[in-house]
Amino acid sequence: MYRILITDGLDKAALAQLRELGFTVDEQFYPSEELGAALQNYDAVVVRSATKVRKEHIDLAKEGKLKLVIRGGVGVDNIDVAYAEEHGIRVKITPAASSNSVAELALAHMFSCARFISVAGHSMRQGKWEKKAFGAGIELCGKTLGVIGYGRIGRLLGQKAQALGMQVLAYDVYQDEQLVCDTMHYATLEELLQQSDFISLHTPSLDGKPLICQETIAQMKDGVVFINTSRGSNVDEAALLAALESGKVRAAGLDVFAEEPSHNAALLEHPRVSCTPHIAASTGEAQGRIGGEVVAILRETFGL
Ligand SMILES: NC(=O)c1ccc[n+]([C@@H]2O[C@H](COP(=O)([O-])OP(=O)(O)OC[C@H]3O[C@@H](n4cnc5c(N)ncnc54)[C@H](O)[C@@H]3O)[C@@H](O)[C@H]2O)c1
Repeated sequence: MYRILITDGLDKAALAQLRELGFTVDEQFYPSEELGAALQNYDAVVVRSATKVRKEHIDLAKEGKLKLVIRGGVGVDNIDVAYAEEHGIRVKITPAASSNSVAELALAHMFSCARFISVAGHSMRQGKWEKKAFGAGIELCGKTLGVIGYGRIGRLLGQKAQALGMQVLAYDVYQDEQLVCDTMHYATLEELLQQSDFISLHTPSLDGKPLICQETIAQMKDGVVFINTSRGSNVDEAALLAALESGKVRAAGLDVFAEEPSHNAALLEHPRVSCTPHIAASTGEAQGRIGGEVVAILRETFGL
């Protein structure tokens, strides 16, 4: 029977379903130096973001029976995809399972930045009552949200923002004109940067210089709110911190960081940063949907 390794956890119902289907399922996280050899004994491995499947692991795994790597989630920056596929190991993702959870967290950070929710809670837990400091809130309604990367997550955030009375400007290398309406328009990156009150980043991890850097921040409106739930590599954190300190950026909501876990204390402790430790996809609903998609991929691959 087919053997499946789950390294970073999987929804309980999905685990039960796989076992009912007859798969032998092992749940075990391996340190990098042991992963390649371990993979030789499995037909498929299911990872989230913690396990990195690199060339050295694939070189060992391809000598065994590994045929498939499933990334529960979207970003595959923890897997050397092209190398795996060159060596006959397919890589699959669960594309839409967590999109709504991520869009909701981006929206939560927008509210948090508009009303200082995260930092005000922190201050109250220290026994303070800083009504004046946190009293200069703004509303989302009537503002313009710029969404960079209008794919699965960007569109869901755009829909929610429109329902809240926001205007949405989207910048994407691919445009779907059917989405355009009174409250949603495509724009160039320059137009989006110049016209948005809130900017939320939803592209994949982009190669080269971070998209959000000194030059792009300089083009933004004064007092813009910036949200990143995409990948930390898309943002120059030093440039963002400087912009928070100068007031160019009013507040930032961050779920992803250049280095994870992040040790950028100046950024994390900044009074106008709302931050979460890469949990945008971590909801019960998303885990359930990821589990369902993983089961479907395994059934299809192994004909069960
Ligand atoms: N924080 C989290 O836990 C979490 C969870 C899931 C996904 N993500 C991240 O969210 C991001 C978006 O995921 P998605 O499912 O919406 O992906 P998607 O592929 O559906 O959408 C990404 C969009 O970005 C566009 N794009 C690509 N390069 C671009 C560029 N240079 N400029 C402008 N647009 C560009 C694409 O055309 C696409 O429409 C990814 O970075 C993913 O890793 C984060």
